[in-house]
Amino acid sequence: MRIVFLAPPGAGKGTQGALICQHYGIVQLSTGEILRKNKGDGTELGEKAKAYMDKGDLVPDDLMIEMIKTELDKEIYSKGYILDGFPRTVPQAEALDTILSNFNQNINAVIILKVNKEELIRRLSARRTCRTCGKTFHLIFDPPEKSNQCDNCGGELYQRIDDRPETILNRLKIFHDRTSPLINYYGKKGLVSTVKGTGKTSEVFERIEEILDPIKSEE
Ligand code: AP5
Repeated sequence: MRIVFLAPPGAGKGTQGALICQHYGIVQLSTGEILRKNKGDGTELGEKAKAYMDKGDLVPDDLMIEMIKTELDKEIYSKGYILDGFPRTVPQAEALDTILSNFNQNINAVIILKVNKEELIRRLSARRTCRTCGKTFHLIFDPPEKSNQCDNCGGELYQRIDDRPETILNRLKIFHDRTSPLINYYGKKGLVSTVKGTGKTSEVFERIEEILDPIKSEE
């Protein structure tokens, strides 16, 4: 099963992606996570991506396409995956089509998580992320047991630099201007399913299951 998550910052791609992977035995490929790891490790890619990411801008297409090509060639993705954060522009989507056709593969579904702007801002401004395992918390909706400590691995929780108010607004604008045209791109291919992304995390997951269960049973 190969799925694309197409949703604005804070809609719950990371949160739901983890549940999907656990339930369906597939792998989450988060381009944001890979970039943050490269940034933290000070690699050449991380150094190039840093300025764009910290402002909430998109990293240039050529860097992202090269990165996804290398990533999808890895064995871990052979049992299926969910793409969280890629593609984000029409050229990225076209490149993905080419990469997949070279592998004789295709995308089974594109899931849109619908969450209103006020809720997205609320979610992102109080998000905390574990420096060690990447798990996310929300100070109000899903607080950690001990402040500043990850329940999962005990790692330190921090606020992402792009979760500052002015950067959040830029990220939302970029999603609207550059990523939302992909809804039409994949809509024409008949792949899009829209899910209400508000309510309890478990309720959102149940809505996603309704879309993915039939795909899984056809495999
Ligand atoms: P990326 O890491 O992909 O960030 P994003 O798309 O902005 O998404 P987020 O991680 O912010 O949000 P999410 O949807 O995963 O929400 P989450 O589950 O955490 O990208 C970062 C940057 O990398 C980009 O800005 C760009 O610079 C670069 N980049 C990455 N890919 C790129 C590409 N393809 N091309 C170019 N540049 C690229 O949830 C958010 C919060 O809400 C959490 O606190 C969570 O606990 C809470 N929450 C989740 N669900 C619920 C719920 N149901 N109710 C209440 N709270 C909830």
